[in-house]
Amino acid sequence: MPESKDNCIFVIFGGTGDLTKRKLIPALYNLFIEDRLSKNLMIVSIGRRDYTNEYYIELMERAVRQFSEDTFSAEKWEVFKERICYNQFDFSSDFDGYRLLDRFLRSLDEKHDTKGNRIFYLAVPPDAFETIIENLKKFRMIENTASWERVMVEKPFGSNLETAQNLNENISKNLPEDKIFRIDHYLGKEMIQNIMAIRFGNSIFEPLWNHHYIDNIQIISMETIGVENRGAYYESTGILKDMLQNHILQMLALISMEPPINMEPESIRDEKVKAIRSLRLFNHQSARENIVLGQYGKGKEMKAYREEENVSSDSKVPTFIALKACIDNFRWGGVPFYIKVGKSLNDKCTKIVVQFKKLPGINNYREFDHTKPNILVIRIQPSEGIFFQINAKKPGNEFLINNVELDYCQKSKYSSNSTKAYERLILEAIRNNSSLFTRWDELQYSWKYIESIEESTSDFELSYPNYSAGSQGPDQASLLISRDGNKWWT
Ligand code: BG6
Repeated sequence: MPESKDNCIFVIFGGTGDLTKRKLIPALYNLFIEDRLSKNLMIVSIGRRDYTNEYYIELMERAVRQFSEDTFSAEKWEVFKERICYNQFDFSSDFDGYRLLDRFLRSLDEKHDTKGNRIFYLAVPPDAFETIIENLKKFRMIENTASWERVMVEKPFGSNLETAQNLNENISKNLPEDKIFRIDHYLGKEMIQNIMAIRFGNSIFEPLWNHHYIDNIQIISMETIGVENRGAYYESTGILKDMLQNHILQMLALISMEPPINMEPESIRDEKVKAIRSLRLFNHQSARENIVLGQYGKGKEMKAYREEENVSSDSKVPTFIALKACIDNFRWGGVPFYIKVGKSLNDKCTKIVVQFKKLPGINNYREFDHTKPNILVIRIQPSEGIFFQINAKKPGNEFLINNVELDYCQKSKYSSNSTKAYERLILEAIRNNSSLFTRWDELQYSWKYIESIEESTSDFELSYPNYSAGSQGPDQASLLISRDGNKWWT
């Protein structure tokens, strides 16, 4: 991972929230102790709670001990904790709080030479984004020309196309696009970044990366956990907005886009947008044939979705989706992209599976009758790696063909709960590298796609729950793919 030694203040709105405890402070701690950040970095956490600085630091210490267990060192913490300040005010109504915040940040600039550089991280619900940005602008915290300011925002960005558009319009009145860093933590994952390396760094893949040679692509993301304590949030998002609109479509864009003209952020994002725009939208008929929705019911010692805290007892929110997507361009015409993603399933894994076409059967090559298709699997998590299936002769006197697996397992030092993705994203935002963040037009087209799924499935007669927690999902998901003579690579 690179480093960024720019002096700056990292301001967190939502400083007492879960994300700050689980990811942001542990990630900043790791970057700091690995010497990837300037020693002059300052962190200002803003929250409504009436905590003293000491108490806040104590809470953060507990969080780092828990969520960064492997790297925690009491000695290093003593140095790091000096960088943290807690600032209490209600960012939704206390406008004087912004004035005081500005004054406080300037005083830190003087003491710590942070040069007016700021990252504002909005770890707050999206309905607070506008107010915060408006006030940052009003109190002149995002217009210092001699220094830099960037605003990082968490997902979800809007709740549908219209709200996302409104939000974007309002935000962009006060903040230019190049200062907005919209987070999709999947873009910070090691193997997601590896997709471009695998595609564009290997002459055995790139020439074959099209409908002539690829039979189908699968994007699979399964979780064993349910919605845990996030019932209220999940009721307003469901699997479509929680996973598909962002993480899954980002993976799909990277695996299917045209080669960018160079590796500059805008060039990469231009190609991702084109891929997302080329997704064929659904109508009622195509949705019935190509989309399966699900919601988990009770499993062995596992709760049903409707029994989760803050979830309605007759909720119609899906926790699972399987679909067959089509990308309407010359590269991918006719290649199905199967997507399967859900909660409370029997496995925790995220992977992209590229299945190549089989060679045509040749009458007088009987020995080759049982060859398997070549398969490339990019394993995102929990183990990171690349798996490639080829055909080769079985050792021995007879000429028999066998499939052989080339399995490269990247030594994955990090658990899937690690803060590595956040570390990378924070670092890249400080370095002003926006390629790992989503641009507005990517989001806009992904919302269009999600909207077409929502509208076209609105007449589905669903009887939820339709899969048990801990199972492989609804049976119809297997039918969706087997109908085409394929199977999920799970
Ligand atoms: C988050 C979703 O964005 O991604 C969660 O809100 C989901 O519901 C999580 O569990 C999955 O992330 P990861 O990194 O564990 O695959």
